Amino acid sequence: MRRRALIVGNWKMNGLIESSCDLADAVLSGLDQRADRMLRCEVVICPPATALYALHQRLGGGVLKLGGQNLSEHESGPHTGEVCGIMLRNVGCWFVIVGHSERRATGEGNEQVGRKMAAAFRDGLIPIVCVGETLDERERGAAEAVVREQIAALLPCLPVARNKRESLVVAYEPVWAIGTGRNAEPEQILAMHGFIRSLLTEALGAAGEKVRILYGGSLKPANARTILALGDVDGGLIGGAALKAADFLAIIDAVPDEY
Ligand code: PGA
Repeated sequence: MRRRALIVGNWKMNGLIESSCDLADAVLSGLDQRADRMLRCEVVICPPATALYALHQRLGGGVLKLGGQNLSEHESGPHTGEVCGIMLRNVGCWFVIVGHSERRATGEGNEQVGRKMAAAFRDGLIPIVCVGETLDERERGAAEAVVREQIAALLPCLPVARNKRESLVVAYEPVWAIGTGRNAEPEQILAMHGFIRSLLTEALGAAGEKVRILYGGSLKPANARTILALGDVDGGLIGGAALKAADFLAIIDAVPDEY
């Protein structure tokens, strides 16, 4: 089954308002020249929270959608420094990244990631939940066990409504491949995406077939064509290469035609 491809740029903690607007403008003008491709491919950028409002004003409800990089599990209240889902919606977000390994490294555990995913659904956002093993876990042969636990923690937090469950996005991001220039090998990606798909269909039935599974970790123009053509790879979550419009657009161009 082919799902609509999803290409997400995670800008992380890079860019002020002006440079974010310039980058978004460059991506948007590239997308305007790719109208046919946009029928098969959804494109999202996740800029720093401080640039979201300006970008929302700029992009309106057009083809280039906005996402947050994180959200609070709470709806409002005394949570200094946190941003909740309603606030992200208020500045034009449709999506939100949840449980990125850089956040898990600050102490977010599987249960909290599950609660944040539930908060995203509650607040009308589509969560992009990141899973993936560290190098040590892979070398110990524990990659699948780690990812199984990460997925298992999400299941009880999923909404009941089938259309909401189907909108879930999972990003497989091996921690050792993020920002290192060393992507996972196609066989490793194929095996893990197949494994995640089997966990999802086992738990969710037909809805699990619809969930999009992205690959992330040193995805770039040079490897995008190979990786995005793999079975059960429904798109990509891109860090470093999303900070250059030409590279990001080249990855979008690498989405196979049969999507
Ligand atoms: P990278 O980051 O593409 O720079 O490896 C991916 C991510 O952190 O989502």
